[in-house]
Formats: sequence, structure tokens, C-alpha cells
Amino acid sequence: MSRNLEKQIFDYLYKNLSPSRFEHSYNVAILAVELALKHNEDIFEAQIAGLLHDCAKNMDQKEMIKILKKNKDAKIFSDICKFSSQILHSFASEFTAKKEFKIKNKNILNAIKNHTLGRPNMSNLEKIIFVADCCSKDRKFKETKNICSLARIDLDKALVQALKVKIQFVTYNNAWLCPKTLDAWNFYVCKNK
Ligand SMILES: [Fe+2]
Ligand SMILES: [Fe+2]
Repeated sequence: MSRNLEKQIFDYLYKNLSPSRFEHSYNVAILAVELALKHNEDIFEAQIAGLLHDCAKNMDQKEMIKILKKNKDAKIFSDICKFSSQILHSFASEFTAKKEFKIKNKNILNAIKNHTLGRPNMSNLEKIIFVADCCSKDRKFKETKNICSLARIDLDKALVQALKVKIQFVTYNNAWLCPKTLDAWNFYVCKNK
């Protein structure tokens, strides 16, 4: 990452995120770089995607809906707004990465966009960011360490465990489960059968 872009991103995150979210973003980037090194993925992409994955977390919800209105998947978008609006930040973060930092790299943008819901057939960078978001140093739930160790060996297996934690959390709270996450689960749990 160029020093200039690095400084721009840190300045933006420092200004726009809470201290705990800033720390989380930094931790996700550190773990993402480690996993990228382990799995021969691009370290630069991992670092940027990790730092920016939650960059719009504190954006006003009305503002997010306004900028995301033209979303191609209208049905899922309206369900997200209605049932689980905190998911919007992943789409808004992708938008912000493009707008504020002129990121055009599709691999980075997809990793930011899909870090909350997942999807079938994710790239290795998407898997790395999804898993790193789930088990970065600041996460407190008990499966974190296992998922993190698994991710150093097998990204698909770690992804299945991370999806499981997410789905269990949603169903335990009787909350809406986005069909994209269910599709990702079915895809990866059946992939090697
Ligand atoms: Fe997030
Ligand atoms: Fe995150």
C-alpha cells in the first residue's frame, strides 16, 4: 500500500469510526494480511479490504439507504432495510471505498461488500475478510480461536465454521436470516461432499 493511501485511510477511519471500531478494523487488516501470506494471496489487497471493510459502519442509516437505493437485488435490499438494517454497512463501505479512495479493484470491493452476508463461490480474499472479521483479536466469543487456527490451514473449513457461528447467532435471536448467507452455507457445506 502506498504511504499516501495508507495515511488517507487511517485518517478517514480515525475521523469516522468509534475507537473500538477503529481498533477492530486494524485487527481485521492484520489478520487478513497474515492469512493472505499463508494462502498466497495479495497482501496489499488484504490490507486495504481489511482496513476498509467497516469504513461506513457509523454512517447515518438514511444516508446509507439513499446511496444504496439503486441496488440491483431490490428484493433482498428491501428485506435487509426492513429486517436487518445493520447489514447495510457492508454495501455502504464498498460505496465509500470507491468514492473516497477511488478503489476500483473488484476483488477488494467484493471482499468489503460480502463480509457480512457471504455468498456462494467466494474468492479467497472474500473468504479471508469474512473469516478475519469473525475472529479478529477483539472478538470475544468462544469459537474465535478455533476458527482462526483453522483459517491458517483451510479457508473453506474456517468459512463454514464462521458461517455456522453467524447463523446460530441469528437463529438464536429469532432474527431474519438473509438468503445470501443460507446460499453460502449450502454451497460450502456441500462443496466437498
Ligand atoms: Fe462489518
Ligand atoms: Fe467488521
